Order: sequence, then C-alpha cells, then structure tokens
Amino acid sequence: MDFEQISVVNVKYCCGSTIIPVGRIAWINRKIFFEYAPDFIGLGLELSPFKLPVRQGAVECEDRVFDGLFGVFNDSLPDGWGRLLLDRKLRKMKLNPDALTPLDRLCYVGSRGMGALMYEPEISTDVPYPLQEDLDVLASECIQFQENDDECVVDELLALSGSSAGARPKILICLPNKTNIRMEDDPDIARSNWLIKFRSSADPRDVGSIEYAYHLMAADAGLEVPEARLFASKKQGGYFGVKRFDRQQSLFLHMHTFSGLLHIDHRIPNVDYKTLMKVTFWLTKDDRENEKQFRNVVFNVLTHNRDDHPKNFSFLMDHNGVWKVSPAYDLIFSSGPGGEHHTTIMGEGKNPGVTHLLQLASVASIKTRRALAIIDQVKAAVSKWPLFAEIALVSSQSRDAIQKKLISVSQNK
Ligand SMILES: Nc1ncnc2c1ncn2[C@@H]1O[C@H](COP(=O)(O)OP(=O)(O)OP(=O)(O)O)[C@@H](O)[C@H]1O
Ligand SMILES: [Mg+2]
Repeated sequence: MDFEQISVVNVKYCCGSTIIPVGRIAWINRKIFFEYAPDFIGLGLELSPFKLPVRQGAVECEDRVFDGLFGVFNDSLPDGWGRLLLDRKLRKMKLNPDALTPLDRLCYVGSRGMGALMYEPEISTDVPYPLQEDLDVLASECIQFQENDDECVVDELLALSGSSAGARPKILICLPNKTNIRMEDDPDIARSNWLIKFRSSADPRDVGSIEYAYHLMAADAGLEVPEARLFASKKQGGYFGVKRFDRQQSLFLHMHTFSGLLHIDHRIPNVDYKTLMKVTFWLTKDDRENEKQFRNVVFNVLTHNRDDHPKNFSFLMDHNGVWKVSPAYDLIFSSGPGGEHHTTIMGEGKNPGVTHLLQLASVASIKTRRALAIIDQVKAAVSKWPLFAEIALVSSQSRDAIQKKLISVSQNK
C-alpha cells in the first residue's frame, strides 16, 4: 500500500520559550521548494547561510544530493539506524517506505528531531508505552533486530531512537540525575537530554568502552567534549552515553552538520579539512573556534579516527544567531574508505602527519608555533592511551591493537 503524499510542510524554530514559524517546504512535480515566512525574514537569523540564505519568495533546491531536500532539513532526518527502524515499522504496517518523499519523512520527525527545528503536520508512529529500561536487554534487542529482522522489538527501538542520526543503534533518554535512568510512561523524546549508543553487529564487543576511552583521551587533549559516561552492563564493559549539546536545560539549540551546510554527501569521500576550516572561520568569525576545530582535526589524525565524514562535524547557533563549533563527538578508533581518512588532510588520506597538519594550520591562519603547541598537547594525551583504556574497561586485545596503530600513526611525517 502507498501513502497519500504530503505536499506542504511547515517548519518552526524552537527559540527559547518561543516557537517561531520559519517557512514552508513544498513538493511540486517531484521538486522541492522552500519559502521563508515574511516575519522570519526580519529577524536576521540565518539557519543555513550557505545553501538557504534568508530571502523573499520561493526557491527550488536544485542539488539532488539529499533527494532534492535542503541540507538544513536533511540534517533533521534520521539516516542509518533510525531510517532502518522507521522503514521496518512501515513495512510491518503493510506500507511501502520507498513511496515516502523527504517531506513525508520530515513529518515523521515532527517535534521529535535533534536540534531546534520542528515540522508540521506531525505523523505519529503510535508506539505503545511504557518502554524497556534495562540497557542490557535493549542492547541485545538491537543485535536481535539487526541479525534476525525481529519485528517484535521494532516499536520499542523506534520510540527510543527519537529521530537520532548515525549508523549505530542508539536511544535518547531523560537522565535527571547521575544514578538512575528514568523512562517515563510517555517519554517526551524531544526533551531527552542524553544519547546512549549500542553496538552494531559489525562492532567489537567492547566498542562502548573504546569510545569512552577516546572520550577521556579527547578531554585530556583539550578538546571540548560533552559530558559522557560509561553506563554499566552486566555483560561487557559498558555503554557509551553522552549528554546532548543541542539541549541546554529546557532550551533547544539549532544544530547544522558540515554535510548539511554545504550539501556534501557523507557517504562519498570527496572533501578536505581545508574546506571544514574555511567554513568554520566563515561561520564563526572567531579565532578560538578556529583553533578548536583545528584541535579536533589533530585529534582525529593522531588517534586514527578515520570515519571522519562530514556528518561527524556540527555547528550550533544560539538564539542571537551566533555560531560556534559544536563539542566533538563520534570520536573512536575507526577506518574510513579503504582504511584512509574519509576527509583528507591537505590531500592526504593514507598517511597524514605533522607536515599536513601544519599546512592545514597555515591555510586556516593559525600560527605554526600555536599549531605545534596544539599538536604536542594532543600527542601527550595519546601517549596515555593504555591508562584511558584501563579506566574504560577496554579489553586487552583491543587496547594492544589500538596502541600498535597509534604508534604507527605517530611516526607519519
Ligand atoms: N552529544 C551530542 N549531542 C547532540 N547531538 C549529538 C551528540 N552526539 C552525537 N550527536 C548527533 O547524533 C548523530 C549520531 O551520533 P554519532 O555520530 O556519535 O553516531 P554513530 O552512529 O556512531 O555515527 P556514524 O554513522 O558516523 O558511525 C551525530 O551525527 C550528531 O548529529
Ligand atoms: Mg557519526
């Protein structure tokens, strides 16, 4: 069975305690158009300055990269795990997910998206509550779902995933204090403030511990990282959980990925850190943000975090329209396409070293002395890997394999 497709979607921006109409998206003859609301135009807020600058009248999105959707709205759509769950749920309801347009998908996000944008009309997936609270049970349900196509758990996993993005299974939860996980009878997923990641069937068993050890190493290297914890498990090291940076107490912050800002497909490796640094400076116009981003790059290079695709970098806009680099996330030992970095460092993806980092610093107007100081600080943290691995309960096998790679990467010129 197919859907009756939605032809107009209203977009709203949750700005403090006010919800402001932004404009409307229209689906006409398989093309997508957007028009800013007249009242929004006067506010001086640029939600997507490169690809959808504020202007009067309807504009068509001519890029096909996100099925014709503007990147700022594509950032609200779950990809990977979240998309898989919705598609399975629809199939279970005897509906054909292939018939969904990007506008239909935005309506499934509704008011439950990451960041601060909301979409109307909202479509509910009618999931029964209350939900499972035991993380070990949820983790095995995720594996069960991936390996056996188990339909029984799809409702629960869909409700808990909110509209989060990324390939790995994850849930959004409300964590009122440091000891208890609280699932409400009817949880308001939009206000959940923590994100917990589970293992995908391709990940090592201690992936949660490895990500937590990387988190500790990143904090030690001076990166801005969100608060994070290793949630206990009876079966393995634990689950990596991180506080959401697009939620600050009851406020929602507008979040935009590097992929969405420039309409770059995050599945195809075709971008360099030079572009990320240029975007950072253009958007934030702030030397400190520039250095913050450079430090993120240094960390990725020196820790072999090579799945560094353009959805793994984001920017946050405050209610006055000021942009900052978001805290760093998805920091983990990983490989990009063919083992290389997904995002190249001044053209080098295979063996980037200090030479490439200094070239990048120069393009980003960071003085060599300052760049070397950042590199040294990150190197010092990386040299403590075995300590972080121990604290995070990483298996000795993973610890040693990663250590070997870190030593090899540190020898790149
Ligand atoms: N602390 C956070 N606060 C808000 N949003 C976050 C946070 N951490 C991650 N995100 C968002 O969730 C998305 C998925 O997170 P993450 O990249 O960690 O997951 P993943 O499944 O490992 O991703 P990938 O597909 O890159 O492997 C990110 O692209 C980012 O938009
Ligand atoms: Mg990611």
